[in-house]
Amino acid sequence: MKFAVAASLAILTPVFAKHGMVQKRGHAQLADAIQAREEQSTDICSAAVASLGQYTVYEPACVNLIYNCLDAVNSTEAIWSQASCVAAATCDGTRNLYQLAQCQNSAISTTNASYLDYGIYANITGECAYAEGGCSMTQQNFVDFFYATLSSIESPEWPSDANSVVTNYWDVIKEWVAVEGDDIPYMNFADFLLYSDSYAEDVEEDGSCEEGA
Ligand SMILES: *[C@@H]1O[C@H](CO)[C@@H](O)[C@H](O)[C@H]1NC(C)=O
Ligand SMILES: *[C@@H]1O[C@H](CO)[C@@H](O)[C@H](O)[C@H]1NC(C)=O
Ligand SMILES: *[C@@H]1O[C@H](CO)[C@@H](O)[C@H](O)[C@H]1NC(C)=O
Repeated sequence: MKFAVAASLAILTPVFAKHGMVQKRGHAQLADAIQAREEQSTDICSAAVASLGQYTVYEPACVNLIYNCLDAVNSTEAIWSQASCVAAATCDGTRNLYQLAQCQNSAISTTNASYLDYGIYANITGECAYAEGGCSMTQQNFVDFFYATLSSIESPEWPSDANSVVTNYWDVIKEWVAVEGDDIPYMNFADFLLYSDSYAEDVEEDGSCEEGA
C-alpha cells in the first residue's frame, strides 16, 4: 500500500491552489510559496515525499500516519476531518503534509481548507468538548490521541516513548499557539493546522518554533 501511494504521488501532476482570500498570518506566505512552486511542480511531489516524516526527527510511525492520511484524502478534500491527517500534521509539519495531500488530491487547498472537525477534537479531549464553553486539549490528551491514531491504523511502528511525542510535537504546537496555561483550546489547535505552515527549518533544536519563519 505504501509503495502504491508513493508511486501514484510520483506520477501525478499536481495542480496547486491559486491565491485565495488572505485570512490570517502565515496564510499569504504559504499561498505565495505554493504559487512559486507551480513552476517546478513536477519535482514537488517527489521532494515532499523525500522529506516526509523528517520534521523534528525522522519518525517511522509518522510515515504510517502520513500514508494513511494520503489514502483518505485521495477521495475527500476534507483533510482535517481525518484523524490520521491531524496526527500526521503534528509529526510531519503542516507544510509538508499539505504539499503531499495536494499532490494526492488537487482539490485540497491551503486557502479554503475547513477547520478541524469538532468530532475529532472531541475524540481527543473527551466529553468535556461538548460541555458549555468546551474544554482545552491537555498534553496527555494529545499523547493519547497520537497513540490511539497509530493504533487505529495498525501502525507497525511506534514512537520510542511518549516523552518524544511531547518534545517533538506537542511542544512545537504549544510554542506556536502561544496561549497561557498548559492546555490548548480548540480554535488554537485548528489555527495551527490551517495557518502554522510548520516545517523542519522552523523548528530549532530545542523544539521551539521561530515566529514568522
Ligand atoms: C485514488 O483515487 C483514484 C480515482 O479516484 C483511484 O483510481 C486510485 O486507485 C486511488 N488511489 C488510492 C491509493 O487510493
Ligand atoms: C478549494 O480550492 C480548490 C482549488 O482551487 C478547489 O478545487 C476546491 O473545489 C475548493 N474547495 C472548496 C470547498 O471550496
Ligand atoms: C471518534 O472515535 C470513535 C471511536 O474510535 C470513532 O468511531 C469515530 O469515527 C471518531 N470520530 C471522528 C470524527 O473521527
